[in-house]
Amino acid sequence: MSASLQPPLALLAEVTHRCPMRCVYCSNPLVLEPRSAELDTATWCRVLDEAAALGCLHVHFSGGEPTARGDLPKLVAQASAAGLYVNLITSGVMLDAGTLAPLVAAGLEHVQISFQDIEPIAGEWIGGLKGAHARKLSAAALVADAGLALTVNFVVHRHNASRVAEMIELGRSMRAGRIEVAHVQYYGWGLRNRASLLPTREQLDRVTAVVEAARERLRGCLVIDYVIPDYWARLPKACMGGWGRRFILIDPAGRALPCHAATTIPGLSFDSVRDRSLSEIWTQSPAFQRFRGTAWMSEPCASCERREIDWGGCRCQALALAGDAAATDPVCWKSPRHDALAGLAASESSMQQASLVYRGSPA
Ligand code: SF4
Ligand code: FES
Repeated sequence: MSASLQPPLALLAEVTHRCPMRCVYCSNPLVLEPRSAELDTATWCRVLDEAAALGCLHVHFSGGEPTARGDLPKLVAQASAAGLYVNLITSGVMLDAGTLAPLVAAGLEHVQISFQDIEPIAGEWIGGLKGAHARKLSAAALVADAGLALTVNFVVHRHNASRVAEMIELGRSMRAGRIEVAHVQYYGWGLRNRASLLPTREQLDRVTAVVEAARERLRGCLVIDYVIPDYWARLPKACMGGWGRRFILIDPAGRALPCHAATTIPGLSFDSVRDRSLSEIWTQSPAFQRFRGTAWMSEPCASCERREIDWGGCRCQALALAGDAAATDPVCWKSPRHDALAGLAASESSMQQASLVYRGSPA
């Protein structure tokens, strides 16, 4: 590994696309991998060992719904034995006492459960699964009772932005050590449903004020992470901490990706962990090198003082909004497309309710 290239901080192990929920902002690709294409247990175990050897500190098991894989306890045990800090990112709807106990015994340390709302019917409309809310509450209680670290994630959009104060209270009552209030990010199904979900500027400002007041009030008791919707920002986020800098994502079929939406970018080909080691992929894969660092940038990024802060923003968003993955992220005020994006946010967020499109379930 060259001196300037650090190992990834974490492995994002997307072990399956299968999931009983159908959230209308799911970041999974529009075409999902079927069960028959999923990596087998032995290959995942090798990848987990390779991740630890490469220098990863964490593994985040996600999906889809990772508990849909019956071999998850084996994967958790392998990761834990390799010295990785093990986090499970789950909807919670399949997490009962019988599912959780072997994961705890295998070394699971942290669980993140996503909630769609505080109101069951509203949340189940967004998540596409009846009865989900009660199952999530029960899963959160089991996690806290087991003594695991719990993060509760609330995804915010036009239809629930008025209930963020109650979301934070619900998170506290569930004994979460961390609450994430995250506006929908517009990739995958979120992009498809953007006109139905984007909050107005006024809604965003109210949510921000609620979060800031709660942070002040709960300082020292609870960590609240806050993710704003890019479309209303003037500076882009450092997506994934910079392309190919902090994370390596393995999709259910074994492709190594720099981010969740990388497969939308034409012209990139992704190495598979079936064929190459994680270390080879991290250091040599052309897809990881394509937008790594700053050499790929053109103006205004190339000479910008923030180029090693946000690393040019998000390549997939540049593709979705500008039609060019190498363009300046239109979220940036220096992009020639920024004003058009602000106009789009204003017009879509004030649209009357458009119908929601739900993802299907992979075979
Ligand atoms: Fe970031 Fe490029 Fe905008 Fe500078 S010009 S703030 S590097 S996106
Ligand atoms: Fe791909 Fe941001 S989601 S770079």
